[in-house]
Amino acid sequence: MAEVVIVPDARAAGALVADAIARVIEVRPDTVLGLATGSTPLPVYEALRGRLAGTDLSLVRGFALDEYVGIDPAHPQSYRSVISREVVDPLGLDPARVHVPDGSPEGIEHAGADYEAAIEAAGGVDLQILGIGTDGHIGFNEPGSSFASVTRVKTLTEQTRRDNARFFASIDDVPMHCITQGLGTILRARHLVLLAFGEGKAAAVAAAVEGPLSASSPGSAIQLHPHATVVLDEAAATDLALADYYRYAYANKPAWQRL
Ligand code: GLP
Repeated sequence: MAEVVIVPDARAAGALVADAIARVIEVRPDTVLGLATGSTPLPVYEALRGRLAGTDLSLVRGFALDEYVGIDPAHPQSYRSVISREVVDPLGLDPARVHVPDGSPEGIEHAGADYEAAIEAAGGVDLQILGIGTDGHIGFNEPGSSFASVTRVKTLTEQTRRDNARFFASIDDVPMHCITQGLGTILRARHLVLLAFGEGKAAAVAAAVEGPLSASSPGSAIQLHPHATVVLDEAAATDLALADYYRYAYANKPAWQRL
């Protein structure tokens, strides 16, 4: 089962996860980070700015989880733009070392296989940051996604398009398709760190952490991973049956064990 850490707020979560990332980079300067978009990981990226100040990040590599298909890469809401704006530019990473799936329609039929090959050539992802959608998706693996899936094109659910409409002028501007790492791709990362904040995520979090393994609940794939950490605020933890145990286990965590 995943380790569940319940913290007071998103800021505390950001600091905790940024510290774990910084320690990985200290040991391995060419760490491969798995980068997520959406609003959830922003406190991590914010905290990393301070935590990594003065650290040589010239060798750090990154792979984003997903991208919209057909969006202009220069559009402020393309995931390429978001990753540049929130991660690459503020941290001063080498843009050539940070990859985002290619969502351009030309060549889309082999973009998934190309991305899988690039991840493999990099030696795999060391630490994968994840958010979770209100319908339980991770990356853009909507309900029904195979646990063995690899990077491929998916059709977004109406719910995801509605959720993401806040980033666009209207829901009609939210692309219909995306290219996303598969659940099988995500499960190959060496450490998964899933974050969720707010009551709106409570049901999806409970299904992912404690629900049955099911393609209908893509986040439940994390239960198959030997090193998964789930970092939540109190509101996102509301529906967890074992919340008291998670608090107790974390409070009594052996000092030598890290996140
Ligand atoms: C987006 C992304 C996911 C993200 C999720 C939740 O559509 N593709 O990677 O985890 O939906 O978004 P947010 O963090 O904004 O709630």
